[in-house]
Amino acid sequence: MKSFDSSLLYVLSGTGNTYRVACWIKESFEKTGIMTCIKFIEDADFQSDFQNPDKQLTAVLFPTHGFMPPWSMIKFLFRMPRQKRVPVMSIATRGAVWLGPVKIPGAAGFSNFFSSLILLFKRYDIRGFFSLDMAANMNNLHPSLSTETVKSISEKSKSRINLFLNPVLSGKRVLFTLNNLYEGIWSGLLFWLIPIFPILYLIYGKTSMAKIMFASNNCVSCGMCAKLCPNNGIEMKNFLGKKRPFWTYHCENCMRCMGYCKKKAVEAGHSLGVLQFFLLTIPIFAKLLSLLTSYTGISFEINNFWIMSLVESLYYLPALLLSYWVFWLLIRIPVVNTIFSVTTLTHYFKRYHDPETSIKDLFKKEAK
Ligand SMILES: Cc1cc2nc3c(=O)[nH]c(=O)nc-3n(C[C@H](O)[C@H](O)[C@H](O)COP(=O)(O)O)c2cc1C
Ligand code: SF4
Ligand code: SF4
Repeated sequence: MKSFDSSLLYVLSGTGNTYRVACWIKESFEKTGIMTCIKFIEDADFQSDFQNPDKQLTAVLFPTHGFMPPWSMIKFLFRMPRQKRVPVMSIATRGAVWLGPVKIPGAAGFSNFFSSLILLFKRYDIRGFFSLDMAANMNNLHPSLSTETVKSISEKSKSRINLFLNPVLSGKRVLFTLNNLYEGIWSGLLFWLIPIFPILYLIYGKTSMAKIMFASNNCVSCGMCAKLCPNNGIEMKNFLGKKRPFWTYHCENCMRCMGYCKKKAVEAGHSLGVLQFFLLTIPIFAKLLSLLTSYTGISFEINNFWIMSLVESLYYLPALLLSYWVFWLLIRIPVVNTIFSVTTLTHYFKRYHDPETSIKDLFKKEAK
């Protein structure tokens, strides 16, 4: 007997990997007669989405960012309505790297444990969670894997997915698996070595990584990156008669704009990042403290690491924003733009997005 009549897949995806996984699940479910709807989280309508909740298998799917779900997914999970034991599963995609014979799997770390915990508190019935390797997409740090490697990783994951889905469909719970043990070990290691890493990543990754993004001279002001961004992270700002993308703090570094810009104009400025770190944040902050000391006669030397970090953060974010504004104005000068473009590694990187996921797919409101 079928345990479910329908399925609802809530998806967050940057470069299309997670959307691709949702498509495989839809294909697999529909073969068994389960009507499946894929919805991007920004299109969720909780009133109409849970019409027949007991007979509907709901799933949340998202990419791993810094061993955690991305911010927008965390916010979405908190927004999800409280339920009475509605069946749900959580699926995190993670970034695998295959370098010839060396196959390094991704690590979703806390991602699924975190999402499942929130859903458990909201009284959902957790039927299973698992993480799945897809091609690593951190295009701000590394070039895209080769087409063949991307294909091999996808094919392997597609062939494995039913191992997880079939038991869930037959009503079993899939919690204690080797895959989840692997992620548990990663989480344990992280807790032990750098317990605040995920929180640091959520705060500093989100703020700093967005503030090195810029459009090179190749930009034709088409605005596609701003339209495509799932987080409204790009504003097209006017300057001297031309519109150019400006990355705001809403950006979550999902790499979609970089992967889909047809002009390959989106760059993550490595040289800019180095400048911001060495020239701006630390020396100016130190100077500010010594100025304060000389004016007031009070010593502002803070020896406690945590208090110092907090004080520095208060200074760091506005300083970063200000420096980004200045940078954004300066890169309108073509030669300045060229200097920052040729001194970032991304200028030489092949871009990545899931080869089967088109721009049209990402604009879709409802299931195919
Ligand atoms: C900012 C950022 C952080 C990431 N952090 C991790 C990570 O901690 N562990 C991991 O295995 N993959 C990580 N990845 C890789 C992605 O999770 C993986 O490629 C995923 O399949 C991308 O899915 P999407 O195309 O749907 O966004 C990260 C990617 C980005 C862009
Ligand atoms: S960065 Fe690319 S997508 Fe964005 S406006 Fe420029 S050309 Fe268009
Ligand atoms: S601005 Fe680009 S990298 Fe940032 S969230 Fe939007 S699409 Fe993703």
